[in-house]
Amino acid sequence: PKNVGILGIDIYFPQRYVNQSELEQFDKVPSGKYTIGLGQENMAFVGDREDIVSMCMSSVHTLMSKYSISYDQIGRLEVGTETLIDKSKSIKSCLMTMFQEHGNTSIEGVDTINACYGGTNALFNSVQWVESSYWDGRRLALVVTGDIAVYSKGPARPTGGAGVITMLIGPNASIVMEPSLRGVHMENVYDFYKPHMDSEYPMVDGKLSIDCFIRALDISYHQYRKQFQNRHNQNFTIDEHADFVIFHTPYNRLVQKAFARLIYNDFLHSSKSRQKYQKYLQKFESLALSKESFGNVELDKASLEASKEEYKVKVLPSTLLSKQLGNSYCASTYASLLSLISTKASQLQGKRILVFSYGSGLASSFFSFSVDNNNNPKFSSESIRSLSSIPIRLQARIKSTPQKFISALELRENLSKRKELSYQPVDSIDHLLPGTFYLESIDKNAIRYYKLK
Ligand code: ACO
Repeated sequence: PKNVGILGIDIYFPQRYVNQSELEQFDKVPSGKYTIGLGQENMAFVGDREDIVSMCMSSVHTLMSKYSISYDQIGRLEVGTETLIDKSKSIKSCLMTMFQEHGNTSIEGVDTINACYGGTNALFNSVQWVESSYWDGRRLALVVTGDIAVYSKGPARPTGGAGVITMLIGPNASIVMEPSLRGVHMENVYDFYKPHMDSEYPMVDGKLSIDCFIRALDISYHQYRKQFQNRHNQNFTIDEHADFVIFHTPYNRLVQKAFARLIYNDFLHSSKSRQKYQKYLQKFESLALSKESFGNVELDKASLEASKEEYKVKVLPSTLLSKQLGNSYCASTYASLLSLISTKASQLQGKRILVFSYGSGLASSFFSFSVDNNNNPKFSSESIRSLSSIPIRLQARIKSTPQKFISALELRENLSKRKELSYQPVDSIDHLLPGTFYLESIDKNAIRYYKLK
């Protein structure tokens, strides 16, 4: 099969959000801390009527109907998430309900768990399945990936969010995964993890997680460039070879810094980039990628300044959803991709999109997509843009007060901490749009029942 990649992509996000300026006031922190310091605008949240299964069902249901895909056309289904509701049963098996109703039970794949990286693993598996001898030459794969990101009270709380992306994977795609180009870095660190089985809140060392993110970026970017050199016999730089760069996005400010760090990497390894950025970065040359370069305020300032104009062109268009939803963990990288398509669909032809995916703990990869809408006009970037109708859907959301956001978190805490296995959700379903699945009840054997609104 040729041109294996993304045929379709859509997102399910909650209808309710809290505004970050209002949250600053409510939390009694200095004005600008969340909106400028973190670069966030709004944050999506759910109460106890939605869980990761209902959100995945809503996302799959939406993509299948928008793209008129029948349930027997799917031969692989992979889920990437870190929002666990069971230590054994996969979310994928819950999603099988929708397929078995249509007589299709021959579907490979289960869940992948590793912080925000599960979706990327699911995507790699699915692309590789289509490229392999095990593919049946006919059916397509679905990657379903996302999370409900919530933090305990404190500085991490405004970096929560929620959303689930579904991607349709197959040959003759317009968003083609570039073959043999992948930079990988994985290591064992405790920057963010979830050891408490009766709470959704992670243990997080914020500063360490940022250092890990940047270190993983340095190393996997180096690996990607090495692969690029092998394949194309050219020294990869953002300036010459990347039209757009998209990131896993814990919060927007970290994306600005991550892009600045890539420019600093280019300054260090390419003579052309050295010339271009020396005005800003010359005095940091001897620091290179040493420990002292991490969280270095002066270097951050200079590289942000050096990369400012390119950021506007190459990164800004992909930041729409993450600023509005917050961190959707596993969905985040692909929400950046959908944002880019949503804002720049008509300008993507022939372009390369460089991708950085990061999951704490840690797993990270650089890889890239090339866009060729001639491969399949039915699944072009323009059709993805128009079917996903992101701007209209964002506008139709409901703004909630910080107090309502806190009340919704309390409902989720009750659900996680309950002593009895059974549970009756109390949150209203009025705000849910038609076509949304929700949690109807949990019985005494912990079996969950869902309903379509
Ligand atoms: N106006 C403008 N900017 C402000 C203001 C203000 N009033 N107040 C603070 N800031 C700035 C700070 O200067 C800082 O900027 P800098 O990063 O450029 O130095 C920024 O806001 C953050 O403030 P800090 O005091 O440094 O950090 P804080 O204690 O608020 O915590 C953190 C931020 C660590 C990101 C926290 O929210 C967190 O732990 N989040 C979860 C972990 C995370 O997302 N990690 C990222 C990778 S792992 C993952 O994806 C989960």
